[in-house]
Amino acid sequence: MTLHENSTQTKRRFVQNRKLCDVTFAQALKSISSLLLPVMLGIFTVVITVNQQNATKQQREEDQKAAEENRRVERDIAAERYRDDIFDAYIKGIGQLFEKYNGSLISNRVPMTLARAKTLNIFRRLDPQRNIRIIRFLHESEQLSGTREQISLDLSTAELPGIDFRHLAIYRKQLDNISLASTFLSNATFIDVGMKHVNFSRTRFNDSSWSSAQLENAEFTFAELHNVNFLSARLNFVNFSNTSFNNNSVNFRNAVMPYTKFERTRCIAAHFNYSNLSQSIFFQVNAKSASFNNADLTNTNFSLANLHKTNFAGTKVSCSQLDSALSIKDALLPNGTCVRDPNLVKNGYADCNTPLLLSWVLTHGNITIMKAEADFNNCHFALQSNNVGASMYQKIGLEHWDSGFWKYSLAVLEAKMTNGVSIELNGKSQNGTIIDKKILDATENNTIMRLHEDMKELDVLVKFSAYYNIIHNKNNWCDEIKLFIDYGTAEVESLRGL
Ligand SMILES: *[C@@H]1O[C@H](CO)[C@@H](O)[C@H](O)[C@H]1NC(C)=O
Ligand SMILES: *[C@@H]1O[C@H](CO)[C@@H](O)[C@H](O)[C@H]1NC(C)=O
Ligand SMILES: *[C@@H]1O[C@H](CO)[C@@H](O)[C@H](O)[C@H]1NC(C)=O
Ligand SMILES: *[C@@H]1O[C@H](CO)[C@@H](O)[C@H](O)[C@H]1NC(C)=O
Ligand SMILES: *[C@@H]1O[C@H](CO)[C@@H](O)[C@H](O)[C@H]1NC(C)=O
Ligand SMILES: *[C@@H]1O[C@H](CO)[C@@H](O)[C@H](O)[C@H]1NC(C)=O
Ligand SMILES: *[C@@H]1O[C@H](CO)[C@@H](O)[C@H](O)[C@H]1NC(C)=O
Ligand SMILES: *[C@@H]1O[C@H](CO)[C@@H](O)[C@H](O)[C@H]1NC(C)=O
Ligand SMILES: *[C@@H]1O[C@H](CO)[C@@H](O)[C@H](O)[C@H]1NC(C)=O
Ligand SMILES: *[C@@H]1O[C@H](CO)[C@@H](O)[C@H](O)[C@H]1NC(C)=O
Ligand SMILES: *[C@@H]1O[C@H](CO)[C@@H](O)[C@H](O)[C@H]1NC(C)=O
Ligand SMILES: *[C@@H]1O[C@H](CO)[C@@H](O)[C@H](O)[C@H]1NC(C)=O
Repeated sequence: MTLHENSTQTKRRFVQNRKLCDVTFAQALKSISSLLLPVMLGIFTVVITVNQQNATKQQREEDQKAAEENRRVERDIAAERYRDDIFDAYIKGIGQLFEKYNGSLISNRVPMTLARAKTLNIFRRLDPQRNIRIIRFLHESEQLSGTREQISLDLSTAELPGIDFRHLAIYRKQLDNISLASTFLSNATFIDVGMKHVNFSRTRFNDSSWSSAQLENAEFTFAELHNVNFLSARLNFVNFSNTSFNNNSVNFRNAVMPYTKFERTRCIAAHFNYSNLSQSIFFQVNAKSASFNNADLTNTNFSLANLHKTNFAGTKVSCSQLDSALSIKDALLPNGTCVRDPNLVKNGYADCNTPLLLSWVLTHGNITIMKAEADFNNCHFALQSNNVGASMYQKIGLEHWDSGFWKYSLAVLEAKMTNGVSIELNGKSQNGTIIDKKILDATENNTIMRLHEDMKELDVLVKFSAYYNIIHNKNNWCDEIKLFIDYGTAEVESLRGL
């Protein structure tokens, strides 16, 4: 085969191929158009089917929901019926106890124990509304009037959330002679309720409002209050002794509360703004950072109270009222000034006109009070006996410190001094043993010592070394020696960032 023949053959094959292609294309077009209708119909059917399926699914879901709703309602009805049943059974059981024990559950140990067990058990299983009815039943049958003369059914440890005491009060107004001592009441409402002779001793309150309530002869001793307000409440002879208020969460704003007793109360950062606290007693309370802004403090007693950083702005509190306080360090006074506690170290700021030996005891060498080189109006303690050095001390008694209540207290010593001087702070027991020792020198501004329950005395010992003075031929001095106590009742209160 020649090359020419070969090429002609190739061309022919190509033309044949094209013809074949044209025919195939036309045929395909034809068959596609004939296929299109069924395909369209198919798609249409699929769409309709899907739609139908969706509709069925929706219907099914709706049916399911309705069924679920029905079941829920049935369950609720069953639960309600169950609660009604156990409620009725409880009343019946207590009624039988009443019959058996001549109308009193509290005159005998047996019914008392049985009634307590039944009641605590039912409280756990019922809702707040029915629990209110149980408390009402016990209260009306005079089993809860726990005053000192009369004992009451012991409901201690009962947890009662969400009780609205307005539903318990007569005409939603008055609820007298009731004891819920040692219970745990969370989210309780006492708004506008009047109460007389009530006992909440050792009760724990979490989120409660007593706003505009009227309380007379109410006892909150040893109670714990967290997020509780008494806004505009009227309190008469109410006792908050030994009560603990959670830091910054109890508010008595605008409350009229003369003759209220706060003894050994922990009321850190409590709010008493615009309240009337005349004749009230704040004996030995921890009222750090509390606010008495514009409060009426006529004859209010603050003996041995810790009023550190307390706000008295806008009050008429007098100096003599604050004199008996344990601490008024950094308190804000009515005239806008801040006071500092008196220095526990006598003549710690060397006074040019007071003899050294009036307040200090020299143990060796010689120290005098001399005018400072930099400021001739100021004096400081200076070493005289260069070759032997010198030391002096002062004892500070801790008789005002109640170690049982102010468990977490700190002694803070501050002073200024040159190198070659150091100050020892010794915490001593009754028999003179040193329990703890801290040393302050020129490298620091203060030193802090945690007070130990056995400490009865603090000794401040100032030491001038001889050696340093001879070498450097410099006049060593110290001044502004200050000691105060930060009284605290809990670990977290210990001063940070002094
Ligand atoms: C209840 O009172 C009756 C009659 O007053 C007396 O006989 C009975 O002993 C009393 N029961 C109890 C449990 O006190
Ligand atoms: C309040 O209840 C506690 C505990 O039940 C009791 O010790 C206390 O005497 C009662 N207080 C008053 C004023 O009745
Ligand atoms: C608190 O109690 C009230 C009823 O007194 C109730 O309506 C509310 O839902 C409760 N709140 C919480 C957080 O439990
Ligand atoms: C309520 O308690 C007080 C003090 O114990 C008592 O004087 C008073 O009679 C009691 N009131 C009622 C209605 O029981
Ligand atoms: C008191 O209520 C708060 C919420 O308001 C909650 O976080 C806290 O755990 C509750 N305290 C107790 C002791 O139940
Ligand atoms: C609490 O204070 C009230 C009123 O001052 C007083 O009647 C009551 O006896 C005190 N309660 C206790 C336990 O001291
Ligand atoms: C407060 O507690 C102290 C120490 O536990 C106790 O001696 C004092 O009687 C209590 N005061 C009141 C009024 O409960
Ligand atoms: C403010 O009052 C305190 C104590 O009442 C007093 O020591 C101080 O001098 C007063 N300050 C002024 C500026 O009046
Ligand atoms: C201590 O020094 C002062 C001043 O130099 C001197 O008047 C005084 O007599 C000295 N006292 C003793 C006990 O040495
Ligand atoms: C002194 O008191 C401390 C602490 O109170 C005690 O541990 C020590 O035994 C006492 N020493 C003497 C000799 O009484
Ligand atoms: C000491 O006090 C001065 C001035 O109050 C302050 O600048 C410095 O940081 C303090 N030093 C220490 C060690 O606390
Ligand atoms: C009290 O709470 C405030 C914040 O509400 C906090 O800054 C402060 O350190 C707390 N004080 C104590 C003594 O716990």
